Amino acid sequence: MKDRQGLAQRIITPEEPSIVVPTLDLSRRGFLGFASAAAIAGLSSPAYAGLVRNSTQALLECSKLVNFEIEKVSEFFFDQKTGEKIRFIYGKKGEFRGDYRVLPKGFIPFEHYHKVQSEVFDMRAGSNFILRIDGKKHVAKKGMTVTVPAGADHIGHNAGTEEAQFVVDFLPKLDADLLFERYWKICNDGHVDAHGRPNLGRLLEETCDLKSATYNSHIPEPLQVAAREAAAALKKAGKKIEHCVSENG
Ligand SMILES: [Fe+2]
Repeated sequence: MKDRQGLAQRIITPEEPSIVVPTLDLSRRGFLGFASAAAIAGLSSPAYAGLVRNSTQALLECSKLVNFEIEKVSEFFFDQKTGEKIRFIYGKKGEFRGDYRVLPKGFIPFEHYHKVQSEVFDMRAGSNFILRIDGKKHVAKKGMTVTVPAGADHIGHNAGTEEAQFVVDFLPKLDADLLFERYWKICNDGHVDAHGRPNLGRLLEETCDLKSATYNSHIPEPLQVAAREAAAALKKAGKKIEHCVSENG
């Protein structure tokens, strides 16, 4: 695995104006802010409730996207600032896939990597989605499958004129369904900063105890691991994390 100490910020070329990349300074300050607050905070975790329904229309639409017998389909979750939306398709045998869509000029709000899981983007619609994986640019089009290996930095944006649509899987799955649901619930509820990134305190609170660990590419990994462990300890003790990071900055 890479040594992420002192990782340089990616340079985004002028041909990709719609990408918004968090600066190292801002991210680090936010994370340090959380890490400090986590040490002194005392709050309890709110119960998470998924937005699941079983509309006939959703089942019909999703049956075209997956090759398993559908148990239920969630409502769409939105991140209004990034132009992303997602819904979750659940099979009767515990299968799970994301129906992920990005509006034209929409974008993934921060470069990140998944520690132990590959992420597979199976593109079902769209013509010009730019995925940057470990700094290398890939242009995804309808019919293509792009796999992001475990540990690889990735970020992307829709440079096309139509909505991009992907069926997304994590391999191994682990508890990726919970990661996806909790991440998107925070975004859907509007707890995001000016770039569409979810509130860090809330994100840690909701995901610190999951196996599907996701890390910001611009924050040293040991610092993120320490924050996760601190958050998990607070959660286990029945305490709540202060949501100290600004959602407007
Ligand atoms: Fe990812």
